[in-house]
Amino acid sequence: MSIPARAAITAVHGYVPPDLLTNAELARMVDTSDAWITERTGIKERHILKGTGLGTSHMAAEAVRGLLEKTGTAPRDVDLLICATTTPDMQFPSTANLICDMVGVRNVGSFDVQAACSGFLYSLTIAAQFIANGAARKVVVVGADKMSSIVDYTDRATCVLFGDGAGAVMLEPDDRGYGIIDALIRSDGSGMIHLHQKAGGSRLPASAETVAARLHYVHQEGAAVYKFAIAKMAEVSAEIMARNNLRADMIDWLVPHQANKRIIESTAERMGLPMDRVMVTIHKYGNTTNATIPLCLWDYEPRLRRGDRVVFAAFGGGFTWAGLYAQWSYDGSAASRSNGKGNGKDA
Ligand code: ACO
Repeated sequence: MSIPARAAITAVHGYVPPDLLTNAELARMVDTSDAWITERTGIKERHILKGTGLGTSHMAAEAVRGLLEKTGTAPRDVDLLICATTTPDMQFPSTANLICDMVGVRNVGSFDVQAACSGFLYSLTIAAQFIANGAARKVVVVGADKMSSIVDYTDRATCVLFGDGAGAVMLEPDDRGYGIIDALIRSDGSGMIHLHQKAGGSRLPASAETVAARLHYVHQEGAAVYKFAIAKMAEVSAEIMARNNLRADMIDWLVPHQANKRIIESTAERMGLPMDRVMVTIHKYGNTTNATIPLCLWDYEPRLRRGDRVVFAAFGGGFTWAGLYAQWSYDGSAASRSNGKGNGKDA
């Protein structure tokens, strides 16, 4: 009996802009301290995209270009490109559209997915359907956000949390049984009040008044979001484990969304996983929203082995949350060597 083709991640790449914003610099901007940020969030520094006219697409295109180069993929061979982002370059056209133009991918479907911090897992889930039904053979999924464009750097409760970055993966059919085995996407729109951007959409378009009232920034009620995030990350991980008969000792890696180190540790503890099997990059990138999960894969790629059982979990604004289970399809150390330079990162 032949195994139906599964969508497998066959390559990853990432990009973070060169400029760093450290806790020490933030402590000069608002009433905070390195000790508070480190203890409450685990973040030490984050990368910030600077430069007039550079949006999310700039970082996403860098990540996608690297991905195509690394895999020797010609732009004409890409069948579909999906961009998960909460900070699109423009209301329209989609950022995915702009990225395609920047990297030379023409005449294929491209669209954005908006599910806040769960957007990358939502996008993988969508992309996997195109592969499984035979409609596409090479799908690029990129998660990218320029959070610095919607963060209020006078609000100490949010400005310490976020950073900018992008991460991209290639999805291709795998008939050996590796790839995405199960995925769950969930939402609860009543959570909007706790985490949203008040102005700039059709409900409250931009005006001199909305700008003066500082309504174009992330509004987050941290404690309420924290409570939901802890509960839903654990719930979705438990559901993925139960549906796939996974015990903690069978899981090689947890790849959690990076919003807060305490949320990550709590999810791992509820799953019964030691922290050495959990991907953590929050200390150096902060919360890059849709980029956190692919940036984790990029950083940890040299340590991933074919057959590794990998559980993903995310929680974000909306509220949205998602879980995914995959068996890793390739030897990551060989892939980062074949890149010619390794990824030079200290996961
Ligand atoms: N420095 C110093 N003190 C601060 C800072 C800061 N940067 N920020 C807040 N505080 C203060 C508060 O003012 C408060 O003081 P008070 O007691 O005098 O009022 C105190 O610290 C405690 O505030 P809390 O909000 O209760 O702090 P908490 O320990 O909950 O940490 C945090 C805040 C880090 C934001 C946490 O709530 C959190 O991680 N929330 C979840 C974030 C998340 O998961 N978001 C979802 C994904 S993001 C997305 O989808 C876009």
